[in-house]
Amino acid sequence: MPKITIDDLEIEAKDGQTVIQAALEHGLDIPHYCYHPDLPIDGNCRMCLVEVEKMPKLTPSCTTVCGEGMKVTTNNERVKMAVRGVLEFLLINHPVDCPVCDQAGECRLQDYYMVYGLHTSEIAMDMKVHKRKVVDLGEMVVLDQERCVLCSRCIRFFDHVTGTGEMQFFGRGDHTVIGTIDDRPLDNPYSGNVVDICPVGALTSRDFRFKCRVWFLNSTDSVCGGCSTGCNVRVDHRDGNLFRLLPRRNIEVNKSWLCDEGRLSFHELENGERLHRPMVKGEDGMQAPVKWSDALRAIDVNLKDCRQAFGANAILGLASASATNEALFLFKEYLKEQIGTAQLEFRLDHEDQKVTEKEDDILRHTDKRPNSMGAIKLDLMSRDLNGLDGALAAARDGRLKAGVIIWFKPLVRRDGDEQIEAKVAELINALQYSVVFTTHKTTWLKDANVVLPVTAWSEEEGTYTNYQGRVQKIGRAIRPKGDALPLWEAFAMLLETSGSKRLWLSAAEVFAGMSETIPAYQGIALEQTRLPGALVTA
Ligand code: SF4
Ligand code: SF4
Ligand code: FES
Repeated sequence: MPKITIDDLEIEAKDGQTVIQAALEHGLDIPHYCYHPDLPIDGNCRMCLVEVEKMPKLTPSCTTVCGEGMKVTTNNERVKMAVRGVLEFLLINHPVDCPVCDQAGECRLQDYYMVYGLHTSEIAMDMKVHKRKVVDLGEMVVLDQERCVLCSRCIRFFDHVTGTGEMQFFGRGDHTVIGTIDDRPLDNPYSGNVVDICPVGALTSRDFRFKCRVWFLNSTDSVCGGCSTGCNVRVDHRDGNLFRLLPRRNIEVNKSWLCDEGRLSFHELENGERLHRPMVKGEDGMQAPVKWSDALRAIDVNLKDCRQAFGANAILGLASASATNEALFLFKEYLKEQIGTAQLEFRLDHEDQKVTEKEDDILRHTDKRPNSMGAIKLDLMSRDLNGLDGALAAARDGRLKAGVIIWFKPLVRRDGDEQIEAKVAELINALQYSVVFTTHKTTWLKDANVVLPVTAWSEEEGTYTNYQGRVQKIGRAIRPKGDALPLWEAFAMLLETSGSKRLWLSAAEVFAGMSETIPAYQGIALEQTRLPGALVTA
């Protein structure tokens, strides 16, 4: 553990750490383009030059390993002059089209120019080398070759992370350009990541570009809802609308990456009409809007009548592994403790087996639900029913009479999703009394006795437990429309309606209750579920 001094700050570096790594870890910024913590070091841009005592020349901090007693200066006139020189070279042929560039506001060339550059260009616009603009690189990425600073981050991403090697430099000298052979589209499932790592406006997102200037966006930390990996994301939003998902670095889960399907998964919420009001079926067989309190009272009375007539185990609780731990915990509290049924399930399609099954060697898992491990830890697996198929069979042969069903459509879709949804619809049809908590309108909801609108991904707080058993906090980015409630709150109200003594007033309180009573979560405080998350016990 060498001790080094950077600008009068004494720090203890890790063995083998480079100067830039030690500096960034201790909150000191050194300008850089080509260095990226999750890519191999290349040392090509020369922006990270620093002065090291007893070294005659300035040295790149991204390639210089910390040594005991090293004294590093990052901000004296000599260093600043060198960085300004690098910037001046980079800007010789740059189009300086910031007013029409989608990267403006989060561009390292702009930022560093304001701190280190501030020079007047000696090069007239008509002397600049021009390159291609708005090059189509497939579904995710648009390329502007003139803005590239040739840092090679994108090349190293495709060479070392996906191993697909699509991008490379072509030409020589000031005619060097970045691109793919014959403009072939980037069609690997992780291509969107190069937009995040490109430090300038050379690679922009086809999905997000020109939708909103970045300084108008608000950001909320959360976790992707697209599969059991649980990649950490930043949700960018404005005025109640979601604009984009960006990765948040968590070296234990997703490093700095997201898959493309997860990145775009929030658009799935825009498909279809949202449910705004609780609906209860009247004696005429038609659903009509009611107040939440009336709907919950009707549910509690009907389920207790059903228990009286047929026994508690005639009542099914079918949860969804897209729900938070907090919602699943209160779902169980109500159905097990208040109603007394043991018929609790969450498996629509063998999620208990798929949860740790990899779809590739980078991030993706086969299970497209974000909280299957949470449902497993809460033991929502009926030995009797053994999943949706068993529940459907039991409803058809009359063993199950009533059901409380949580239905969320998956944010990342796969073949077979329609069949699963059709089985849920069939299940509702086969039950004498059914209650559905869901987000969007679907045709089959007309068969349910009660339909309740709940918040979707990004609209509520809580936690998910990923495939590793890592509990991670999700954030509320936007407010739901209409009367939709967070699922945990709907079950908290149902528990109160049913006469439960304990009141649950916030998602944080529910988490505390869960960690008191569920062995896997014992001793975990909500604070620990922030980056990098807390591991549940086996
Ligand atoms: S396109 Fe972006 S990431 Fe790729 S080399 Fe150019 S500046 Fe670097
Ligand atoms: S791998 Fe899974 S959790 Fe990660 S971004 Fe993709 S869908 Fe989301
Ligand atoms: S960041 Fe060190 S040379 Fe580019």
